[in-house]
Amino acid sequence: MHLTFTLNGETIHLDDIPEDMLLVTLLREKLALTGTKRGCESGACGACSVLVDDRLTRACRTKVADIAEHTVTTIEGIRGTDGGLSDLQQGFLTYGAVQCGFCTPGMLIAAEALLRQNPSPSRTEIRRALNGNLCRCTGYQQIVDAIEAVARERNARQAK
Ligand code: FES
Ligand code: FES
Repeated sequence: MHLTFTLNGETIHLDDIPEDMLLVTLLREKLALTGTKRGCESGACGACSVLVDDRLTRACRTKVADIAEHTVTTIEGIRGTDGGLSDLQQGFLTYGAVQCGFCTPGMLIAAEALLRQNPSPSRTEIRRALNGNLCRCTGYQQIVDAIEAVARERNARQAK
């Protein structure tokens, strides 16, 4: 199929793409965007999380045909206004919430999806939003702290 979609703010046109190709394969193998990870490949771990039209989406469960004419944001597209780290990435660093390279991109995408939908989440809502992002190495405490702080900062910036 011919595939047109918006990826991290850029319009992409691709030819000869199998309709049943998975989005994670397209991103990693065809477009060299390896920030989106292959974890369980069964929709259970969240390592392959991306945003499709701002909706948290598993790239390992999404066929490329389903993103035609849609907008996809990967971890590579989450940047600060100056092109550097986003506020969430900086917040993860500040609060010691950065973990391994497998789970962290998906956690950041899940956090971004949450804050786009709910700018002032409670700690319970933050934990619920991270339910689908598995890490057996942490209690999630610092991640929740970081997301809560960034939400507060975003709201304070907007109130100015
Ligand atoms: S790799 Fe997609 S949810 Fe685990
Ligand atoms: S899976 Fe990444 S730190 Fe646990």
